[in-house]
Amino acid sequence: MSSVSNEPRLVFTEDNSAEVAAAAFDETTDPRLRDILRSLVRHLHAFAKDVELTQTEWEAGIEFLTHTGQKCDATRQEFILLSDVLGLSMLVDSITNRIPVGATETTVLGPFHMVDSPPRALGDDISLADGGEPCVVTGTVASVDGTPLAGALVDVWQADEKGFYDVQNPDLVPDLNLRGLFNTDANGSFHFKTIVPAHYPIPTDGPVGQLLERTKRHPYRPAHIHFIAGAAGHHPITTHIFVDGSPYLDSDAVFGVKESLVVEFSLVDDPQQAEYYGTSNPFRHAHIDLVLTADPS
Ligand code: BEZ
Ligand code: FE
Repeated sequence: MSSVSNEPRLVFTEDNSAEVAAAAFDETTDPRLRDILRSLVRHLHAFAKDVELTQTEWEAGIEFLTHTGQKCDATRQEFILLSDVLGLSMLVDSITNRIPVGATETTVLGPFHMVDSPPRALGDDISLADGGEPCVVTGTVASVDGTPLAGALVDVWQADEKGFYDVQNPDLVPDLNLRGLFNTDANGSFHFKTIVPAHYPIPTDGPVGQLLERTKRHPYRPAHIHFIAGAAGHHPITTHIFVDGSPYLDSDAVFGVKESLVVEFSLVDDPQQAEYYGTSNPFRHAHIDLVLTADPS
């Protein structure tokens, strides 16, 4: 809304550009939105001044952002991918999830949690296709004070032994392959059968892929299994376990690796244990303790 004022008019100059443009948002009634927009403008102007951005360069930037938007559809979110490779997704995750000591660290959601995971019984095999190294994943869900959380929900999804999610190969693998939604038992425990996932490249057939290529960055993520764990009265967490020894643990294209999430997928050669889990011998075994923060009461 414009208003008539006796204040001397502040005319836009190169020197005062940030101040003038930020002040244009002063009347925003939502205080958080006002602060975000004023800060965004100030930082954008500082950035343009820092690199002395030229008209031609900004046109190239706008073209890149336009292509990024044009690549998005119901199953592809190129802006999230851009945020991921810029490290912004992990920064926002860190700011949002400042956890107390002992709680499980969080990491990126990623773009492949695009379908609801099918409910499964404890011990089920989530691998519905042939191939891959058999693996048993065991885990617990507990509150940060150590109380086991019975009936907690554990949502799991992962890539296969070639590094593909089911949604990337809909004609080759059964629907909902390598996905499952589990309920913890009375002790807060869960386990399921699967295969060891492989490392894989994030989607590179769009502007983000071109950006990586142009800047000599590789597109790979180390092998991992995704988890979302939630329980009544607790803050849900989105996290992974990473396969210890996987390539790219030290250079994840989306900066998602945290040391505490790197887990040994140990080789178990024990026919009795294999029989107990209903898998072939030998098999790999990984374990994760998911520790959630209680909601403030
Ligand atoms: C994923 O782990 O599924 C993922 C995360 C960020 C970008 C692409 C893929
Ligand atoms: Fe992933």
